[in-house]
Amino acid sequence: MAGGHPASASARLGARDSLLSRLCGRAWPESVLLDALGLFPALDVLDVGAGDGRPLRELARRGHASRVVGVDPTPGPGVQPAHAEALPFPDARFDVVLFARVLAHLPDPARALAEARRVLRPGGQVWAAAHGPAHLRATRAALRQPLAPGDTPPEPAVILTYPLRVTADDARFLLGTYGEEAEVSPHLFPVQDAAQLLVWRP
Ligand SMILES: C[S@@+](CC[C@H](N)C(=O)[O-])C[C@H]1O[C@@H](n2cnc3c(N)ncnc32)[C@H](O)[C@@H]1O
Repeated sequence: MAGGHPASASARLGARDSLLSRLCGRAWPESVLLDALGLFPALDVLDVGAGDGRPLRELARRGHASRVVGVDPTPGPGVQPAHAEALPFPDARFDVVLFARVLAHLPDPARALAEARRVLRPGGQVWAAAHGPAHLRATRAALRQPLAPGDTPPEPAVILTYPLRVTADDARFLLGTYGEEAEVSPHLFPVQDAAQLLVWRP
């Protein structure tokens, strides 16, 4: 796997997910997100930017009894075609609206958040998932709530940490999926590290 750097952003994301899945022994990010959802009782969930819909199918497979709906402009199987900025649902329909690695990619994330809040029931929650502190900073910047260097990030609602062992080849490959290249000294590897999912409520 090391060495090959996929060209498109979505291929790079897929390649990163595959490597992290192998390293932490569970499907990244879907089973990790589902672990987070599983910390809460049965909720009606809307996944915005649901992509290929894998998390939704896995949630259904795990027997999630409540409503589970996904939307995406380029929807996978079982996902409805829609944009975050204009959700095709009435007010107060869901308990959780999930943005997994999505807000940072939207042209108008503030509008998407307003739409999410519209379709939430009173007491419902928006969950924004980022995979690690750097991605959290990018997401906050997209929301025009930037974190200055040295600021303490907001306390996440959920932090799930998965220990993993990273070889020099893995590190090189992961850097490549971010479009970066760097000298990785094999003498410093392998290292014990951790993959981390942060969920916070914007
Ligand atoms: C980085 S992928 C994340 C996919 C999935 N949530 C995950 O964590 O694997 C970003 C997703 O946002 C979707 N997207 C892009 N623009 C969008 C919009 N305006 N509204 C909703 N989703 C959008 C893309 O089609 C893509 O599926």
